[in-house]
Amino acid sequence: MNDLDQLVQDAQADFAQSPAPADLENAKAKYLGKSGRLTEQLKALGALSPEEKKSRGALINAAKQQVEAALNARRQALADAELDAQLKAESLDVSLPGRQRGTGGVHPISRTMERIEAIFGSMGFDVADGPEIETDWYSFTALNNPENHPARSMQDTFYVDMKDESGAWLNLRPHTSPMQVRHARAHAAKYAGVTPMPEIRVIAPGRTFRVDSDATHSPMFHQCEGLWIGENVSFKDLKSVFADFFRTFFETDDLQLRFRPSFFPFTEPSAEVDIAFASGPLKGRWLEVGGSGQVHPNVVRNYGLDPERHIGFAFGMGLDRLTMLRYGVNDLRGFFDGDLRFLSQFK
Ligand code: DAH
Repeated sequence: MNDLDQLVQDAQADFAQSPAPADLENAKAKYLGKSGRLTEQLKALGALSPEEKKSRGALINAAKQQVEAALNARRQALADAELDAQLKAESLDVSLPGRQRGTGGVHPISRTMERIEAIFGSMGFDVADGPEIETDWYSFTALNNPENHPARSMQDTFYVDMKDESGAWLNLRPHTSPMQVRHARAHAAKYAGVTPMPEIRVIAPGRTFRVDSDATHSPMFHQCEGLWIGENVSFKDLKSVFADFFRTFFETDDLQLRFRPSFFPFTEPSAEVDIAFASGPLKGRWLEVGGSGQVHPNVVRNYGLDPERHIGFAFGMGLDRLTMLRYGVNDLRGFFDGDLRFLSQFK
């Protein structure tokens, strides 16, 4: 075997033993690099006579072609192997069924809100929304709840480290009742000078906050305020609104309604509203679902209206309670734990 055959054989063996592209490039340098074995051969041609140059040159070129062919073949083989490994690692089974995206659902309490809005909407009530961080005046004083009055103590529970213009601490509203005042004042301003003033008929559902936490109370809960003010609105209207509402909400006519005398500073007279189902698991039990009453003249004055002329009623309902009764849930905390096993039952 001549020296060039040997060189080609060495190169083929070196390339074949290069396990990765980087090793192959190093092996290539040994033959085709600046001072590689083939390059040295080519350099040596300079010292030969023209005839020798011609024949030797042709031999060297043939050897070079073989080396390059071996190099390219190995390059291709390594690239193929790499692609193969990659395809194996990333195998894709196109026959597998597609992955399903969960569709989610409306939270049960949001459902209650939507239902309440639809039912009261059909009775001509607007829907109002307002701040959850309230001033002392709107949460208490405007609602005839004087400063330092003991009736406040059950309600003034969460404060924000910030004061309003009057110097009073802001609070997390303990009920939606401030919305009566906010909405009625805006209404009175909007229709100032219009006689007769269009009636106020509004509900205001939303979040409320109190220090309370057990199976039926949570520090954040939901209420819906209602207000109907006109020149000839009475308790009779309140009763029919409630009767219609509860029958529609619970989808049954077998339901009794009871007004139980009570006290709220912002209404006079005041009543607690109880319902009882004539059938089902809660049959015959009186359940408290809200408070109500004829709006107190002092509160009507704080609406910016004349209590001799503008009268009506207000009410507040606990939405968490209504949701629990509608779906037969006995622990409120499920609504706020974020456990999908519980929540997905309401989809
Ligand atoms: N704000 C009362 C509460 O949280 C509920 C209430 C009672 C609202 C009577 C009213 C009402 O508008 O007239 O306990």
